[in-house]
Amino acid sequence: MTTTQPETIPGTGSGWLPGTSTIAFGGDYNPEQWPREVWDDDIRLMREAGVNLVSIGIFSWVLLEPREGEFDFAWLDEVIDLLHSAGIAVDLGTPTASPPAWFWAKYPEARPVTRDGVPLGFGSRGMASPSSPAYAEATTRIVTALAERYGSHPAVTLWHVHNEYGAPISESYDEASVAAFRLWLAARYTTLDALNSAWGTTFWGQRYGAWSEIDAPRTAATVVNPSQRLDFARFTNHALLECFRRERDILHRLSPGIPVTTNFMATNCPSVDYWTWANEVDIVSNDHYLVAERTDNHVLLALDADLTRSLAAGRPWILMEHSTSAVNWQPRNLRKQPGELRRNSLQHFARGADGILFFQWRASRYGAEKFHSAMLPHAGETSRVFRETVALGAELGALAPAVGSRVHASVAILWDWESFWAQDLEWRPSVELAHRRQIETFYTRLWEDGITTDFVHPEADLSTYDLVVAPSLYLISTTARTNIEAFVAAGGTFVSSYFTGIVDSHDTVHDGAMPGALRDVLGLTVEEFGPLPQDTPVQLSSGAVGSRWTDAILLQGAESIDAYVDGPMAGGAAVTRNSFGAGHAWYLSTDFTAEQLADVLVGAYADAGVEAGPVALRGVERVSRRADGVTFTTWINHTDRDATLPTGTVVTAGDAVVLRDDA
Ligand code: GAL
Repeated sequence: MTTTQPETIPGTGSGWLPGTSTIAFGGDYNPEQWPREVWDDDIRLMREAGVNLVSIGIFSWVLLEPREGEFDFAWLDEVIDLLHSAGIAVDLGTPTASPPAWFWAKYPEARPVTRDGVPLGFGSRGMASPSSPAYAEATTRIVTALAERYGSHPAVTLWHVHNEYGAPISESYDEASVAAFRLWLAARYTTLDALNSAWGTTFWGQRYGAWSEIDAPRTAATVVNPSQRLDFARFTNHALLECFRRERDILHRLSPGIPVTTNFMATNCPSVDYWTWANEVDIVSNDHYLVAERTDNHVLLALDADLTRSLAAGRPWILMEHSTSAVNWQPRNLRKQPGELRRNSLQHFARGADGILFFQWRASRYGAEKFHSAMLPHAGETSRVFRETVALGAELGALAPAVGSRVHASVAILWDWESFWAQDLEWRPSVELAHRRQIETFYTRLWEDGITTDFVHPEADLSTYDLVVAPSLYLISTTARTNIEAFVAAGGTFVSSYFTGIVDSHDTVHDGAMPGALRDVLGLTVEEFGPLPQDTPVQLSSGAVGSRWTDAILLQGAESIDAYVDGPMAGGAAVTRNSFGAGHAWYLSTDFTAEQLADVLVGAYADAGVEAGPVALRGVERVSRRADGVTFTTWINHTDRDATLPTGTVVTAGDAVVLRDDA
């Protein structure tokens, strides 16, 4: 699987938003929450801040269709015209994440049902069961009406379908979902025999004799068949994607030339496989929020932006939402410090974003998000946050020449939601097996070393990379196995950590010794797993310390680079290297911290010809975007010391610069 987005946005003939040559700057705008006179103030302040794109109407279904089939567009007409006359473009939302009260009263069967059988109530937001026929009909009607009315309005430069598919609603266990799941299974497997075999239903006597016997994997007496659960996760992703496609196709038909997006949550929505969505949107957009109490937020932000750029196949993407300061939904909602909003924004820009938008323009006075920050906070236009917003608008305005420039990476981390779904099920060898922590650890090492990293699906083209890392990628299909082998045979360097390549796409252990998908390329087998007790490190002969996991390794061609001194596998190999064709494959059978990886990865970097950045500039982020002989390099000093760049420029602590090089 690979993202194969064309150079231009479908139907627009351009690589960026129609009629736009600047970085998009703005946010979610909810004028419906405010009296009419406030709108003029909004426009005045948006102009002051350099806002050129706002997302509107995302939660306005009941205002636009107050009764089933009866529409009222008067207020939206006025808002769109007002924005247009001020030169502010519109990212028009389809309001389908928030069906009206009349919908729920008339179609209670459309309510999503939890795995425990609880139908969810109204008065919040989210959506109906993705498989509900009533929801499909109602969304078709409202989206058609919106597209007919505004499809060729000159202000509309982008369609914003729905809001964050997969959150808060993903799996639903209602009747319509069960019926749709059976149809999806029948299309996938054709015969019950094939399904029984794929799900291993001879285990615990689960064999099915009729399609109608199959249920969604709802809460049961104990663990439910993991292959069934994996397929239900796939089905759910498919059902959500069908909802998106339904709306997108209407918009493409009635609003030709206007790109359609839906806001992803690249690292934050475990239930959606965005690789399968990336080719379906005209332009990738993403929402990102800091985890306030983590001290490595700048690294996690970079990870999220790199994943988003990878989903966009390197093309321009939009940061659809982030916050100017605190959010309202974490345990302790810490504010952003002065300068942080700018650093965050420039990090996204550096990693390929051509749009920097916020949730939200003006802070709400009521509702669940009244304590969420905004471009225009409750404190108003004299506030620090608004002044920083105005300054950011001016700075991004001056970066217009960078629109369309691309980031290049020669290192990639394998990322596969299907593997995450499978690994996250119950009854794995240790609760310490956390793919996300492993990915963050390897990514942190690469970030610290100043190496820009892509993310890539294990079945996608790897040939453009020198180094590919697989951090605890539990599920590797036979296609991915062949892909990885071909990459290494052709001269690539591959680094795998433990518990990688264990099962196939049905969550069935690959035939023979583990790790079945990687035995040949790694030149070893794992005879036994050796998970460690909590907080029990193991010593390696190099002096390194491992934790959480060990393996009993039988070398079958690979050389031992480091060995266990103690622990359950004392005397056995811990880190190995294998020559395979023209390339090399490394195996790390225990858990290392990002700091320890600095030494562990030296050999792999050397094999790959990858160079870490200068130690003197640790903590100073550098990413380049290139286009037609011009390079824009963003330098962001995340440390508390001033930094002197190779160009002689001094970037003070907490500051950032974008340097243009026309050479
Ligand atoms: C996003 C959502 C927005 C808003 C925001 C608050 O996930 O799309 O509508 O709720 O969170 O941080």
